[in-house]
Amino acid sequence: MLVYLDCDPGIDDALALGYLLAHPAVDLALVGSVSGNTDADTAARNARDLLELFGRPDIPVAVGRTDFLTHPYAGGAPHVHGDNGIGGVELPRGSAAFAAGSAADELIALARARPGELHVLAIGPLTNLAVALEREPALAGLVADVVIMGGAALAPGNVTAAAEANIHNDPEAAAAVFAADWDVTIVPLDATMFQRFEQADLDALQAEGPRARALGRMLHTYYAFYRQHFGRPSSALHDPLAAAVLTGEAVVSSAARVPVVVDTSDGPGRGQTIAELRGRYRPVAPHHPDGVRIVFDIAEPFAPQLLARLLSL
Ligand code: RIB
Ligand code: CA
Repeated sequence: MLVYLDCDPGIDDALALGYLLAHPAVDLALVGSVSGNTDADTAARNARDLLELFGRPDIPVAVGRTDFLTHPYAGGAPHVHGDNGIGGVELPRGSAAFAAGSAADELIALARARPGELHVLAIGPLTNLAVALEREPALAGLVADVVIMGGAALAPGNVTAAAEANIHNDPEAAAAVFAADWDVTIVPLDATMFQRFEQADLDALQAEGPRARALGRMLHTYYAFYRQHFGRPSSALHDPLAAAVLTGEAVVSSAARVPVVVDTSDGPGRGQTIAELRGRYRPVAPHHPDGVRIVFDIAEPFAPQLLARLLSL
């Protein structure tokens, strides 16, 4: 499957990138950076260096938007992902040059070149996708589908009580992406907060080769943040879970396709993903053909699948 990855590496973005490269069915054609956990330039350097680490410097990286649609980038999440975005881990510098075009323009070109084939996986704020839709209104009809790590349907947010980070960083972009005429699946905190790596997973990565060890070193920073939430060395698997929903390796056991609106106000709900779930108590989950597919749960724990893929890098 032909994939475009839009990301803000980001420690869990790094896990998702490793997962995609380890999956035999994935043809990762292009990586785009966006501001979120860190600024878009740093995210692009991190993506390039991770691709070098994983032995795939041939995969192009396009630099995306630094600022969001209606407000400037404001410093990211160093308290979660470290000052350099990947837990302070210094990777060997990748040698590849960045793509000539912006992430949005390179996405448009790829979608035009491979109409109907491209699967878009967005695991950062949705700024690049919104810019691409604005520049090429036909984009929605050119891609196969869009899978997004983002949002919180019934679960609380993580950057505010109401909003998840990727959506909160650029609610206007998320609103545009959800409103476009393409097949959108979101993998929200409702699902991702319950799929976790534990100490044993970190130990297994640290005992493996240089690629897995580098990811293990990054996870030390991520575990330090999540200790306050889970009470033990552990981390949520936000972005890699979205990647596994895209590949189908994470089998979805609970989902609903419903209208989702994004709060773009400047009030306490800014960035909230408001899902029309009032029909959820019926025997059959609500289904609105034009809605956004929300993943609530998967059939099996994801951590063992992810660990196996990362150890095979
Ligand atoms: O809320 C979690 C999401 O925000 C993940 O994609 C993480 O990498 C950050 O981008
Ligand atoms: Ca991310």
